[in-house]
Amino acid sequence: MLFLESNLGDPGLYPGTQHLHDSVVQMLLSILHGDGLMGGRILSGGSEANITALWAYRNSRQRRQVLAPETAHYSVGTAADLLGMNLSYVRVDDSYAMSVDDLEAKISSEKTAVVVAMAGTTEHGQIDPVDEIQLVCARHGVPLHVDAAFGGLVFPFLSRIGYRKRLPAFDFTLAGVTSITVDPHKMGMATAPSGGLLLRNPTLLEAIAQPTTYLSSESLASILGTRCSAGVASAYAMFRFYGINGYMKLLQGCMQNAERLAAQLKDVGFRLAIEPISPVVCIRLDDEDLAKRTQRELGQRNWLVSRTTQPHGIRVVMMPHLQGAIIPDFVSTLRSIVL
Ligand SMILES: Cc1ncc(COP(=O)(O)O)c(C=O)c1O
Repeated sequence: MLFLESNLGDPGLYPGTQHLHDSVVQMLLSILHGDGLMGGRILSGGSEANITALWAYRNSRQRRQVLAPETAHYSVGTAADLLGMNLSYVRVDDSYAMSVDDLEAKISSEKTAVVVAMAGTTEHGQIDPVDEIQLVCARHGVPLHVDAAFGGLVFPFLSRIGYRKRLPAFDFTLAGVTSITVDPHKMGMATAPSGGLLLRNPTLLEAIAQPTTYLSSESLASILGTRCSAGVASAYAMFRFYGINGYMKLLQGCMQNAERLAAQLKDVGFRLAIEPISPVVCIRLDDEDLAKRTQRELGQRNWLVSRTTQPHGIRVVMMPHLQGAIIPDFVSTLRSIVL
């Protein structure tokens, strides 16, 4: 409540808030293997982080093509539309991960401003092969923005508990990754508005800076002016409260529930888009009308889940507040609607 009124857009007037902001950026950088030379911003969410990143790349590189996988979050389309950039989709393979061959065919040193890769797709929780994508980008001198809005505070903890040994790397351990979106207000358990944009080279933001003489700073590089800082204070509090071990435990519980749900769905004959590698379970229905009807009928019975389009189906995100005990009831309700 205290931080609802303090303004991140006027850091000179709110030095304590700015200090919390900088601490949250450092904590996110340390989780994603950044170093002291890197920087970032806590913004209103993943959408603003993606839009800000693409804006900075467009201005700094004077190019307008954005390449992103077909599974990219819609905010990448919003960014391209707002910024007058051309978004070309890169095909995904059967596991909904970006095709490196198709990227290779589409990337251009002269035209491409930035490539966007996903670490935790919205519909499936999938990771693109960022380790291979960064090599293609580096060969063409193109920066690589990773949208880890969801996965950035999921995969590092799953890796630490040894959940999946072969989760592909996607963070600053890869030299070709130039920026990352990572949202404390998703799996970081913070209050909105709290989305993060991390930058290998923070001077990138100079490309979008505007003079702000009436404020306490000389210039600001952000879409919004006055910015509520409650999300920053909340992210700081959550990081201190949970710590790495707390998040590991939280994610372990979510993942166990996701696997339990996946197994029970398969037992009664449902098919999944991919075997869950994060707490996202995407149930294939392969028919748009059936997916719409299923979502509606689940909603009428108070199961509020989302619909997916690639493939048509239903998505369940096993967030920490969900109890494993509800899974059989959900599966039998879904079965009575669909099968
Ligand atoms: C992968 C991904 N990127 C970006 C966003 C946008 O985040 P926000 O709603 O915080 O703007 C989402 C939202 O779910 C997302 O899943």
